[in-house]
Amino acid sequence: LQRTAAERIARASDEEGLRAIEREYLDKGGVIAGLLASIPTLEPTERREFGQSANGLKQAVQAALADGRAALAAGRLAAELAADDFDPTLPGARLERGSLHPLTQVRREVEDLFSSMGYQVLDGPEVELDYYNFQALNIPVDHPSREEQDTFYCDREHTLVMRTQTSPVQIRAMERMTPPFRVIAPGRVFRNEQQDATHEHTFHQVEGLVVGHGVQVGHLTWTLKNFLTQLFDREVPVRLRPGFFPFVEPGFEFDMGCAFCGGKGCRVCKGSGWIEFCGCGMVHPRVLEAGFAGRDDVDVSALTGFAFGFGLDRLVMTRYGVDDIRQFMGGDLRFLEQF
Ligand code: PHE
Repeated sequence: LQRTAAERIARASDEEGLRAIEREYLDKGGVIAGLLASIPTLEPTERREFGQSANGLKQAVQAALADGRAALAAGRLAAELAADDFDPTLPGARLERGSLHPLTQVRREVEDLFSSMGYQVLDGPEVELDYYNFQALNIPVDHPSREEQDTFYCDREHTLVMRTQTSPVQIRAMERMTPPFRVIAPGRVFRNEQQDATHEHTFHQVEGLVVGHGVQVGHLTWTLKNFLTQLFDREVPVRLRPGFFPFVEPGFEFDMGCAFCGGKGCRVCKGSGWIEFCGCGMVHPRVLEAGFAGRDDVDVSALTGFAFGFGLDRLVMTRYGVDDIRQFMGGDLRFLEQF
């Protein structure tokens, strides 16, 4: 029996054949089960030996099947190697590696620099309540930035907006933190405007807020100058011009010397040598009152603070000489692969 089984297994040419033999010998109603079932009909003296050889047969068939399967696999591999379209010396497919978006790279640098100056990095919702985006920031109901052509509203009642700036995070920070504190809040902002090389409906800002005792304009200018000098790794000239934002008083436009041409004048700074870097100023007392409303642990009248908000897209454009802001959200790999 054992020899026949072994011969048949050796002759089987595929897995199907092996499985048929396996069923025939090893299944419930199979040859070996039949042998074992006949044991009770034998003379008691013969039973032991018969049982042992039946079990030996079973093990031998199992081993032969395993050998048969291994032989089939080896045969398949040999056939594949022998087929002439297989060339093991060809180089493998090159693995494309992704890279970080330039906005992500610079945002991380910005976060690291401010963290090293003791700032905490905060996040805030992109779909924001009108209260945080406008009201609490002292922006009146008839302010032009609330117009439908500037703001994406999420509901008819105009209570929910796509945030138009990161400044609402100022209020959220005041609500949950206790002065003195320093925070930045990078994130996406949205404006419903005509798109061109310098305007996108979705762009990125970094908000900064410092609240404490005796915080002054000098702290603001030093902080921003120091930040830019570290980011560009060289002395960056800066200048303040008066600017108006309802949530700061006094308010400023903060310019930096063009990092692309070094102030000589180029296409990036449109020949002026200066680039508008951000809006900033001393936090308006009404904003402090709104942010710390109902807090008996905070004496608002003793506090001052400064705030700033700059465009991350613009910063990356100045740094690398990118001339179209639409590249950032455009998803063109030929652009992204350069970073
Ligand atoms: N939120 C202002 C803007 O989007 C920038 C700003 C932030 C100005 C903080 C002053 C203080 O233009």
